[in-house]
Amino acid sequence: MGQGAVLAATCTGCHSQAERAELSLNGWTKDALSASLNTYRIDPNGTTVMHRIARGYSEDDIEAVSAYLSSTEGHTDNATE
Ligand code: HEC
Repeated sequence: MGQGAVLAATCTGCHSQAERAELSLNGWTKDALSASLNTYRIDPNGTTVMHRIARGYSEDDIEAVSAYLSSTEGHTDNATE
């Protein structure tokens, strides 16, 4: 698996790729994902789950996972392929 796929596997526990899932990341573009994740990453006062997660990633990690997730749109299973 590439770096993006490895990182994406950590997201799918909370973000199911099922179409109707509350936290589905289906339909997100690479730019929208990386913008959102970078916002979480650099917000010094953020205390949500995503802030904690995003702080652990480098900009390269965010690029890779955003590219991977946006490329798997429409798939209904997890990130194991
Ligand atoms: C522990 C559970 C958990 C994990 C793991 C997780 N997330 Fe999240 N994510 C959330 C929750 C909960 C929210 C809603 C905002 C908040 O409370 O942080 C969220 C929000 C988001 C949003 C914004 C959604 C919106 O509608 O604005 C994006 C984008 C996102 N997550 C991407 C990711 C990516 C990419 C990963 C893997 C690198 C990931 N998340 C891993 C729980 C998680």
